[in-house]
Amino acid sequence: MNVHAAALADAHLPDEQTCAFARGAIEGLSQQPKHLSPKYFYDATGSELFEAITRLPEYYPTRTELSILRDRASDIAAFVPKGAALVEFGAGSTTKVRRLLQSCAVSAYVPVDISGEFLNAQAAGLRKDFPSLAVYPVAADFTGSFKLPEAIATMPKVGFFPGSTIGNFEPHEACRFLRSAARILGGGARMVIGVDLEKDERVLYNAYNDAAGVTSRFNLNVLVRINRELGGNFDLSAFTHRAIYNREQHRIEMHLIAKKAQTVRFLGTSFSFRPGESIHTESSYKYSIERFAALARGSGWQVCHSWTDEAKMFSVHALVAEG
Ligand code: AVI
Repeated sequence: MNVHAAALADAHLPDEQTCAFARGAIEGLSQQPKHLSPKYFYDATGSELFEAITRLPEYYPTRTELSILRDRASDIAAFVPKGAALVEFGAGSTTKVRRLLQSCAVSAYVPVDISGEFLNAQAAGLRKDFPSLAVYPVAADFTGSFKLPEAIATMPKVGFFPGSTIGNFEPHEACRFLRSAARILGGGARMVIGVDLEKDERVLYNAYNDAAGVTSRFNLNVLVRINRELGGNFDLSAFTHRAIYNREQHRIEMHLIAKKAQTVRFLGTSFSFRPGESIHTESSYKYSIERFAALARGSGWQVCHSWTDEAKMFSVHALVAEG
């Protein structure tokens, strides 16, 4: 057993999710450059902060995607087979799926998310507003392998992956996710997916450096989680939020920058920081229509339609699984 494994075994963490967070945090902060997965942003506070981000004037993706889903409602309805089961990978706010459910003749909705409690609350709201819709929540990590409910076995399947969450995956992870989604949904599957587009760098910069500082709080929340859930002693005032556009990699990068030399401790492990040293906390890849189509093609999907808003800020793609 190495030092980290021994520290974890002694820590008596309350559940598997916290253990996975502990392993990921220790591993990421032990590497050079230091990094933490963006999936650790989303505890209850992080999810609320993200909802607040989606309402910021600078953060265009959410309202732009919603406008595409509204303006292209009849095209999307024509793409979604009648009586289909809509499988949403990750379930946040239900605003986007409601747009689809209003215009498409869908028989069942399967939201897949790691947080079962959250899923059940979302499902209850949808059952009330769409009484003829069968809702089958699946509590699972949507990036891994999971089984679809038996009840939808004979229905045509349509995946739904809005919000450009695919942009938070490294390109090889995005490819792995798309392949796994095709496998889970099965032969003849379709998919509706939202993808953020490359654009003026100032627009991108402002979207991740909002004037109200909500994105900064969202970023720092991962350190708050380490302090609370893993007994860490991060001094939040000693780190600052930084988001930059990396043109070569076509991605926004979020970092937490150490303002001074310091050593932080949790679960019996120490992590030293040089002044100016970064923890890379998120990449948000931006695609061109062509680069996304190439990614989809290389991952077992053909692009049938690509819809954008007039200013070409955001895109929604209709994919059909090959074979
Ligand atoms: C969830 N995801 C698509 C957001 C994004 O834009 O990459 C997360 C986010 N990070 C900072 N602001 C929003």
